[in-house]
Amino acid sequence: MLRSHTCGELRLSDINKPVQLCGWVQGIRDKGGLIWIDLRDRYGITQLILDESRSAAEVVAKARTLGREFVISASGIVIERSSKNPNIGTGEIEIDIQDIQVLNSSKVPPFLIQDETDGGDDLRMKYRYLDLRRASVRSKLELRHKVAQQTRRYMDEAGFIEVETPVLIKSTPEGARDFVVPSRMNAGEFYALPQSPQTFKQLLMVSGFDKYFQIVKCFRDEDLRADRQPEFTQIDCEMSFVEQADIISVFTGLTKTLFKNIIGVELPETFRTMEYADAMRLYGSDKPDLRFGMEFHELNDLVRGKNFPVFDDAEMIIGINATGAAGYTRKQLDELTEWVKRPQIGAKGLAYIRYNADGTLKSSIDKFYSEADLKAIAEAFNAQPNDLILILSGEENKVRKQMNELRLEMGERLGLRSKDKFEVLWVVNFPLLEYGEEEQRWFAMHHPFTSPKPEDMALIDTNPGAVRANAYDLVINGVEIGGGSIRIFDRTLQSRMFDLLGFTPEEAKAQFGFLMEAFEYGAPPHGGIAFGFDRLCAMLGGSDSIRDYIAFPKNNSGRDMMIDSPSAINPKQLDELHIGLKVK
Ligand code: AMO
Repeated sequence: MLRSHTCGELRLSDINKPVQLCGWVQGIRDKGGLIWIDLRDRYGITQLILDESRSAAEVVAKARTLGREFVISASGIVIERSSKNPNIGTGEIEIDIQDIQVLNSSKVPPFLIQDETDGGDDLRMKYRYLDLRRASVRSKLELRHKVAQQTRRYMDEAGFIEVETPVLIKSTPEGARDFVVPSRMNAGEFYALPQSPQTFKQLLMVSGFDKYFQIVKCFRDEDLRADRQPEFTQIDCEMSFVEQADIISVFTGLTKTLFKNIIGVELPETFRTMEYADAMRLYGSDKPDLRFGMEFHELNDLVRGKNFPVFDDAEMIIGINATGAAGYTRKQLDELTEWVKRPQIGAKGLAYIRYNADGTLKSSIDKFYSEADLKAIAEAFNAQPNDLILILSGEENKVRKQMNELRLEMGERLGLRSKDKFEVLWVVNFPLLEYGEEEQRWFAMHHPFTSPKPEDMALIDTNPGAVRANAYDLVINGVEIGGGSIRIFDRTLQSRMFDLLGFTPEEAKAQFGFLMEAFEYGAPPHGGIAFGFDRLCAMLGGSDSIRDYIAFPKNNSGRDMMIDSPSAINPKQLDELHIGLKVK
């Protein structure tokens, strides 16, 4: 070993020990007779000291040639520091240096490698290997590592076995586009990268591996956001001979274990469950943030018929009570109105009723509503002085979406979305299908392998939109952490499903023949779930962006700035792959 200790471990109890440390030069201070070097490695920072009056002249000279990020090995004796630094573990000691060896030099790094860096996002991504030297970034990967280890331990102890599934597969339709890989050996044919191991884990159930899990890379060619990457990781799981409650129980346990062991947070014994229909009715979202209330109130009956055309003509009028926001000034309300009118939200306008501290009511709709009318609306919210009721109207689906955005924004503005608070819930009984107006056909809301609720089975032929699925999502603080379902395991029902989704029997056979055939060889009843591993890590780490928790992430255009990918390939490679490009 080139080192006896790491840069994070020496303490007062090590005084007088001869040691050898290796690491990167974080900084050098040269104060005439004394030179201090901060030496950094993965474990921390240790201060080295050279005293011109005592140290060998050539060692001092060598120290003066060092620059930031040089890699050195330094040997010396641990001594007590005269001015201690209580902020770091090694802050009570320093190393009185006897010798220094330069193991490698470094160019001046393009940004400061410390927590408060001067590097912008793009620069740090281009030099991600340098960014990863920063303790604040490194600690996020350390957290990720712990979450993976704890997950494996939990799943192993619960009797699951980890099985790897292939990465070069055939496309599985899960809502996103596939990334495809051309085959050299099979001209004109393509593999697809898995959007998830969905069909393979179901086949493993047919094989009798009744408790499967895998921490696995998935690939989806979709528009990217803070919580979406083109390649991401799932904690993927499938079980045989189970019902929804069994899967919810295993993954409630996993979530509790991770929160307790990773960040010391004790979650409730059982998590809340909410029907999908209730989540949409009360919050306009299938992943409501329950750190705060502000439930929706439907106001159609209360506000119609007062000659206010906007409300009279609206399909749906919904209000929320932004408790305690009555202090909002006219200017703030005008700004909020502009906010809901932005194209991203798309509301036509915003009405408000302010419940003043003195008990009077002031609203933007005074012209149409008497004091008594406003009182009646306020009562529907059980509003108190200092409350602010915000109202949107329009087409039902749109109003729900817009109000969801407004509710989240008000929660944010009123400081109700603390990163230290965790509200966990299972959303259950999703619709099985949703109708695509553009395509004029039904789509599977989860995926085509999800089973309908047995009691809704009869509706499949008469009213497909009303059929509920045996599907569930885990939502934490408004983030969809995971989702799964009980599967169809009967070939006839699976064929019926493909038929509903617009596959001809030939198409279904071409795409899923292998699964349908497997179902003819004794498929057990089964179900499963997948957690978004990156999202879970970001949640545990208190961040909104999953990029921070991925060692080498892609930017919002799906590019890896460091290796400059995607990139062109040479004509010979294209030729071998039997590919001609339309774009040169
Ligand atoms: P689903 O598509 O809901 O289910 O994915 C499961 C979870 O994966 C996470 N996730 C993502 N994370 C980061 N970037 C992305 N692009 C991304 N897409 C999804 C989410 C999501 O809840 N095979 C089914 C699971 C099953 O039925 O068992 C599936 O993949 O946190």
